[in-house]
Amino acid sequence: MKRRVQIVFLAQVCIALAGGLPATQGVAQTINLGAANNADFKVLHATAQDVAEGRQVAETMCARCHGLTGISKEKGVPHIAGQRAVYLHLEMKVYQAGGRGHKVMTNTVKYMNDDAIMKVSAYYASLEPAEPTSGGSAKAAPAKPNAISAGKAAATACGGCHGEAGISSTPGMPSLIGMDPKYFIAAINAYKGGQRKHDMMKTLVSGLSEAELNNMALYYALETPGKAKTPAPGNVAAGKTAAAGCVGCHGEGGVSGNPTTPSLAGQDAQYFIDAMRAYKDGARNDATMKGPASSIDDATVKNLAAYYAGQAPQAPKVAKPLTVAEWAERCDRCHGVNGNSNDPRAPALAAQRLDYLERVLRAYKKGERKSKEMAVMSEGLDDALIDGLAAHYARQKARGLAYLVLPQPPAPKK
Ligand code: HEC
Ligand code: HEC
Ligand code: HEC
Ligand code: HEC
Repeated sequence: MKRRVQIVFLAQVCIALAGGLPATQGVAQTINLGAANNADFKVLHATAQDVAEGRQVAETMCARCHGLTGISKEKGVPHIAGQRAVYLHLEMKVYQAGGRGHKVMTNTVKYMNDDAIMKVSAYYASLEPAEPTSGGSAKAAPAKPNAISAGKAAATACGGCHGEAGISSTPGMPSLIGMDPKYFIAAINAYKGGQRKHDMMKTLVSGLSEAELNNMALYYALETPGKAKTPAPGNVAAGKTAAAGCVGCHGEGGVSGNPTTPSLAGQDAQYFIDAMRAYKDGARNDATMKGPASSIDDATVKNLAAYYAGQAPQAPKVAKPLTVAEWAERCDRCHGVNGNSNDPRAPALAAQRLDYLERVLRAYKKGERKSKEMAVMSEGLDDALIDGLAAHYARQKARGLAYLVLPQPPAPKK
């Protein structure tokens, strides 16, 4: 089946998806992809003759890897059937200039002339795209728990002492709620390394991996904060007065704005008193707190503890990580609905090979494959998200693009 129609520049074109999405979507999509130039757009004017000649090029130069159908059966080789025409052209030129650092492809296109590149791009763009990956590894992939639920699971072992969701109900046990992840992790590492001396905590946390720690820190940071459910017998008004000297570091009302200085709001009073004593006698060795702790008598410490215990703790400024589905929504802004790009410059991702998507996303993240847009987008992706997004797009139904020239450009929809 041939779906080729004459093309003009994007702004004047209504792009209809062969699979039946509303035609206006092509126009509504606004992205700013600077890389393509006029030569790359020439491929949109390809004729049936050009496509036929492109097929001959493909037969001799590409088919042994990409197949004449553009649907790859080989690990590491991407599907290129139905891929967006300008994108194909653009990437061929990038390979030619050595820009993707891939020897096989660079050597293949090195001596191709512009005409052949245009035609072979038009040919592969005109083909029916691959079927989505169904079953197999792609289906099984996204079962991994997200960071927060993994953190919650790991923190069940801590709840017996630190309280349900990190809100202490045992005098002497610190609340962990509202704690900045930086301070949390530094505290655990100080127990592990012995700088903060507490044999029991050292034993409890020594087996925790870095990933488990990060997940737990995130979980506690994002839970709804609450005051410790423990008695706080001091004089609150006197404590408030005494706290004037602490505000500079621990923040107004004990809500710290500095990730390495702990918040004190809502903290268990007994733990607070113990900590002050430990700073004073050197059991907890900290140059910053030694001074303030040494200059205060026991009655004042008790009042400070009561004052801070009564202050409302706040969640630290930590962004909740996005799920795979929430990420995919952002990716779709450029790559089209479910990875079916409406812009001939942006690659379609739908039904692409899983192994290729995984590898390419890691290459962008490491900076091995260069792209301004994708460097930004891949920066925040961890391994689980990369696997999840790759599986998501490999499973999507791919739709070819048909380009229709309209007599008048329709008004862009808001
Ligand atoms: C020896 C095997 C081989 C041959 C021959 C070959 N390719 Fe490739 N091609 C690959 C591999 C492997 C990749 C993935 C490289 C990478 O990750 O950058 C690739 C990538 C591509 C891409 C990038 C796809 C994307 O989604 O970004 C395009 C376009 C492409 N090839 C087109 C062609 C064309 C057109 C020909 C013939 C002129 C051709 N290739 C010949 C192996 C081959
Ligand atoms: C058996 C009781 C107990 C268990 C179980 C326990 N902790 Fe603790 N934790 C304590 C005590 C007591 C302290 C105060 C130690 C000190 O004085 O330094 C503490 C201190 C901490 C601190 C430092 C708090 C601060 O304000 O500086 C962190 C962080 C912490 N624990 C995390 C954890 C995590 C994570 C777990 C689960 C893996 C855990 N704890 C399990 C009793 C416990
Ligand atoms: C110059 C900055 C600074 C000032 C002033 C200061 N603190 Fe601190 N405070 C810190 C830092 C940093 C820590 C974390 C030290 C560590 O890792 O043990 C801390 C820790 C604490 C802790 C232990 C919290 C926990 O979760 O383990 C308490 C309690 C505390 N401070 C109370 C006070 C009080 C009360 C005052 C005022 C009298 C005060 N601090 C003044 C910087 C300061
Ligand atoms: C601002 C627009 C934009 C956004 C948002 C975006 N991309 Fe891209 N993406 C691009 C462009 C442009 C390219 C082509 C870059 C190049 O030349 O290497 C690309 C290329 C890719 C490729 C390589 C395709 C191929 O065939 O080789 C993958 C995979 C990809 N993006 C996945 C994603 C994922 C996953 C997200 C969301 C986390 C995302 N993109 C978000 C613009 C975007």
